[in-house]
Amino acid sequence: MATERTLSIIKPDAVAKNAIGDIIARFEKAGLQVVAAKMTHLSEEKAGGFYAEHKERPFFKDLVGFMTSGPVVVQVLEGEGAIAKNRDLMGATNPKEAAPGTIRADFAETIDANAVHGSDSAESAAREISYFFGNDEICPR
Ligand code: TYD
Ligand code: MG
Repeated sequence: MATERTLSIIKPDAVAKNAIGDIIARFEKAGLQVVAAKMTHLSEEKAGGFYAEHKERPFFKDLVGFMTSGPVVVQVLEGEGAIAKNRDLMGATNPKEAAPGTIRADFAETIDANAVHGSDSAESAAREISYFFGNDEICPR
């Protein structure tokens, strides 16, 4: 499998729980490397643009409200099959359906505050990485 990059966000609920280190440790233990990272408090515009694909969904307004409710940690993860690997580590969108031992099972309770984001395809990863990071902010290792 090829080396890939994916975008990860540790969402406001997980930051508020002081779980940043525990979550990043899971990425590193799974063989993913952090090649870019920043903490930021998203504006409504930035969060809404990030989730533009969900603009017409009934949960969009609450999703933007949640994503702007506190700081987040945005990272680029690199590694073999990084996109699928991160999705596996995260678990299902709804923490109630997430497999035991996944990040969402262990750090989240409800679908509207589910601890982490991860790109779902190579196309999403490319868009999402460039939405948050310039090339000069990514550090190949
Ligand atoms: P989605 O892209 O479907 O999930 P994922 O984060 O696993 O890629 O949805 C984006 C976010 O929107 C999801 O993490 C939480 C929120 N959401 C809801 O609040 N309610 C819902 O019914 C869905 C599908 C998503
Ligand atoms: Mg998604």
